Amino acid sequence: MTTQTLDRASRYADVRQRLDALLAGETDWISGMATVACELHQAFPYFHWTGFYRAVGDEQLRVGPYQGTHGCLHISFDRGVCGAAARQQQTQLVPDVEAFPGHIACSSSTRSEIVVPVLTPEGELLAVLDVDSNDPAAFTTTDQEHLEALCAQLGAQFASAPVR
Ligand code: SME
Repeated sequence: MTTQTLDRASRYADVRQRLDALLAGETDWISGMATVACELHQAFPYFHWTGFYRAVGDEQLRVGPYQGTHGCLHISFDRGVCGAAARQQQTQLVPDVEAFPGHIACSSSTRSEIVVPVLTPEGELLAVLDVDSNDPAAFTTTDQEHLEALCAQLGAQFASAPVR
């Protein structure tokens, strides 16, 4: 199935249904992130790196649970697409990573990327969800809409998790 023919919206609906069941009552943030990374990565053939960078204070991100080849271990808020999402607290939809100033190439095969902040209802940044694709312009506003809704739910569910 190609990126074009995939019915993204119904695929996201399936994933959300599974995640709602898997994460019901879960309070452990690490377990939550690991489960989300796994389910998203398995569901979409154009997701080649799928995971989280955690906000650990001092404007620093540290890698969290992910699927794919190894990611950079830490990223400061002034670097890369992840840093921009953390700093601006806004989704970064990047159709061509080569055109993004300061993009961090953890993998040379990455062509496009989306990074969505995970914010608590009070606006505290818990993490960013980073998805990289080897396909150019792999992500659309449909991905953005569904990933933002998922991240909003995570931010609310894990707002008071003791481990960040
Ligand atoms: N490309 C990201 C870095 C993280 S990895 O690709 C896994 C960025 O520019 O922030």
